[in-house]
Amino acid sequence: MTENQLDTRQENEGTAVEAGSKATERFAASGKPTGTGVPKERVSLLAGALIKAANDIVVEHEVTYEEYNALKAWLIKVGNDGEWPLFLDVWLEHTVEDVNSQDRPGTKGTIEGPYYVPNSPVLDSPATVEMRDDEDGVPLQFSGQFTDTDGNPIQGAQLEIWHADSAGFYSQYAPGLPDWLFRANVQADSEGHFVLHTMRPAPYQIPTDGACGQLISAAGWHAWRPAHIHIKVSAPGYQPVTQQLYFPGDPHNADDIASAVKPELMLNTTPRTDGAAGEEASYDYVLAKVGQSK
Ligand code: DHB
Ligand code: FE
Repeated sequence: MTENQLDTRQENEGTAVEAGSKATERFAASGKPTGTGVPKERVSLLAGALIKAANDIVVEHEVTYEEYNALKAWLIKVGNDGEWPLFLDVWLEHTVEDVNSQDRPGTKGTIEGPYYVPNSPVLDSPATVEMRDDEDGVPLQFSGQFTDTDGNPIQGAQLEIWHADSAGFYSQYAPGLPDWLFRANVQADSEGHFVLHTMRPAPYQIPTDGACGQLISAAGWHAWRPAHIHIKVSAPGYQPVTQQLYFPGDPHNADDIASAVKPELMLNTTPRTDGAAGEEASYDYVLAKVGQSK
């Protein structure tokens, strides 16, 4: 690690709650629909089921007043720390994603997580994502092709990529990093091929100094996610896919705190065949047409 990156890392330590509250601000500003269109019947059904599940837990486990008040204090802290996006994306989004993608053919998705930022720099393939001078880590050449479910190349496909640096920090959420570090929107060529150059990210620990970290240590769990690259792919007329790619052999593939690893999402890296430094890997995307289902 370079001096600079070490400085950044030290600066970042103890500021994880900042990442949590940024995720809350960003969600509020994202323009994502926040439920005003959910019909009364569904609200009643879902809120009723959630309340019933919580009451059942109290009965089954004979929850004490000390435990009830600990829960109250903790829920207040999750909000004060701005960690609702973190909490939900770690412990619930994986199931929402499974349920909502079960009928979509083609490449598997997984959770988006809290750190996506829209409107990243648009780069034509072959592309190099933004890095600092002397960026620490293993260079990674990542390539692939977009096809439809019949194997025909797709035109106009794009691949948005975002990932942590080799110290495990995300730009725009950890302080001291360039805004678009390891964030880009790569345009595939007319045959659906793309090539991009980045660095292999590090395993990532969800922020440990806020409410989520407090829960993790109180329960004796760990805070790790395996190293991963976030990707969102889309093309006109096709259903978009949000996914992450993981590296075989990562010790946390089997116990990801966010339960977001799937066997179809492994990126097999090999040393560069052209003698350049680092690794290469390819991954092909199969997109379903709008309206197409299994
Ligand atoms: C969280 C962070 C991630 O990078 C991710 O992919 C999923 C969840 C989190 O901190 O909640
Ligand atoms: Fe992530």
